[in-house]
Amino acid sequence: MENKNFNKKVYVETMGCQMNKSDTERILGMLSHFGYEETEEPKEADLLIVNTCSIRQLSADKAYSAVGVWGKWKNEEHKKELEGKPFREIKIAFCGCVAQQDKEKLLKRFPYLDLVFGTNNVYELPDLIKRINNGERVCATNETPKKFTDGEQEAKYEIKRAKSLNAWIPIMEGCNNFCTYCIVPFTRGRERSRKPVDIIEEAKKAIHDGFKEITLLGQNVDSYGKTLDPQKDYDGRDVTLANLLRDLNKIEGKFRIRFVTSYPTDITDDLILAVKECEKVCEFFHIPMQSGNTQVLKEMNRRYSREEYGVIVKKIRDAFKNVAITSDFIAGFPGETEEQFEDTLSAIDEFELDYSNTAAYSPRVKTKAAKWTDKFIDEKTKFERLARLNEKNREACLKSNEKFVGRVLEILVESFEIKDDNVILAGRAENNKIVHFKGEKYLVGKFVDVKITSASTWHLRGELA
Ligand code: SAH
Ligand code: SF4
Ligand code: F3S
Repeated sequence: MENKNFNKKVYVETMGCQMNKSDTERILGMLSHFGYEETEEPKEADLLIVNTCSIRQLSADKAYSAVGVWGKWKNEEHKKELEGKPFREIKIAFCGCVAQQDKEKLLKRFPYLDLVFGTNNVYELPDLIKRINNGERVCATNETPKKFTDGEQEAKYEIKRAKSLNAWIPIMEGCNNFCTYCIVPFTRGRERSRKPVDIIEEAKKAIHDGFKEITLLGQNVDSYGKTLDPQKDYDGRDVTLANLLRDLNKIEGKFRIRFVTSYPTDITDDLILAVKECEKVCEFFHIPMQSGNTQVLKEMNRRYSREEYGVIVKKIRDAFKNVAITSDFIAGFPGETEEQFEDTLSAIDEFELDYSNTAAYSPRVKTKAAKWTDKFIDEKTKFERLARLNEKNREACLKSNEKFVGRVLEILVESFEIKDDNVILAGRAENNKIVHFKGEKYLVGKFVDVKITSASTWHLRGELA
C-alpha cells in the first residue's frame, strides 16, 4: 500500500466548517499513501476535489460553480486527446455535505464529474480512486455512518494537517437535534462519538509533532460520549467531554485545548468545572443562541428559552475572569416579527456576547422550516435585519474588546508582519481574541504575556509584558 513516490498531484478546495477542513486533512493524508501530492495550483492537478458545504443556498451554489470551471479544463484536455495532441488526464471529485445531499443527481447534472462521495465515505477513498482511475464514474454516498464507528479505519492513514499551530481533532460527528432550519442532521447523519483512546492517541501525536493547540470538533461537542459505553470504551468512567478534557489536559507539554461547537443546554456544571480545573483548556465558549426570542427558539426546535440561555451564560461568566462567549444568530427565520427580531438584538447586549456569526435564513430542502413558505420573510426585510444584526455585533465586539484594556493576557503568537520597519506580531489569547503587538519574529509559535493597551472592533493592541 505504501507509495511515497509522488507521481500525481491533487488539489482540494474546502468550503464550510472546521469539520470539512478536518475531513480534507484526512483525505490528503490518505491520498499521500497512494502517490498523490498536494498542490495549491489547481491547473497542475491530476485530481481536483471540492469539499462542499450545504448550510445555506449560497454555500451550495459556490460548490456548483467551482466544478463548472474545472469541467471546462477537462473538456479542453479531452478535445486535445481527440485531435491526437498531448493531453492531461484530469479527474474531478465532489464530496462533503452537498454530495451527501444531492448524491447521483450530481453525476447527471455535471457530466464531467468522475466521483461523488459523501461524508460517510471518506475512508473508502483509496478504493474509490482506483475505480475512477479504471474509467468508472462512481457515486458513494452511504446513509449509515461508518466514520467513527470503526476506529481502525481512521488509524490506518496519516493526517496531512494544514500549516498552522492548531490541530483539528474531530471527537464526534452528526447531530440528532433537528433544528427546523438546519441541514446538518441530513448531511452528517446521526450523532456518534469517537473512542477516547483514539482521540488521546491523535492528540499526543499532534503535540509531539509540534502543534501548540488542539481543537476538539463536533456539531454538538458537549454531547460527546452518548453513543459510547463507559465499561467497554472508558475504564468505567462516564464518557463525557468534561472527562475527556481532564485526560487530554494530562498530556505533557505546553499547549492549549479548545472545543467547538457547544449546544447551550448540554453545557453541564461538570464541564464548566473541568474547564476551570484544566489549565490547558481555554476560557472560551462558542454557544450559538440562534434567536433571542423564546417563541422563535421553540419554532426552531431549540430546547431552551431566552432566560435559560442567560442562566448558562451567567454561570460561565461567574466562573472565569477573561472568558469570551461567542454565538451564532439567524435573521429572518420564517414568521419572525420585528419585535421578535429586536429580542435578538437585545440578547446580544443583555448577555454581553463577545462576537457572533450571523446569517440570513436560507431555506434548505428536507428541513421542516423550508415548508413554511407562507411564513417566509421577504428578502428585503431579511437582509435589512441582517445588516442591523451585523451593526449590533460590531458594537458588541468593540465593547467586549474594551473590557480587556489594562489586563495582561497570555498570547500564542501565530504570525508576524513588517510595518514601518517594526515587526508586528499577531496572536490569540485563550479567549480567542486577536492581539497585535511589537516583538521579534522568533516568538512565532511561542506563548508570551501581553499587556493590552487599546482596543478596536476586531482586535486588541498591546505590548510585551
Ligand atoms: N451545531 C451548531 C451549528 C452548526 S451550523 C449549533 O447547533 O449551533 C452553523 C450555523 O449556521 C448555525 O449555528 C446557524 O446559525 C447557521 N445556519 C444553519 N442553518 C441555517 C439556515 N438554514 N439558514 C441560515 N443560517 C443557518
Ligand atoms: Fe444544526 Fe441544530 Fe444540529 Fe446545530 S444542533 S447542527 S443547528 S440541527
Ligand atoms: Fe457546512 Fe456540512 Fe459543516 S453543511 S457547516 S460543511 S457540517
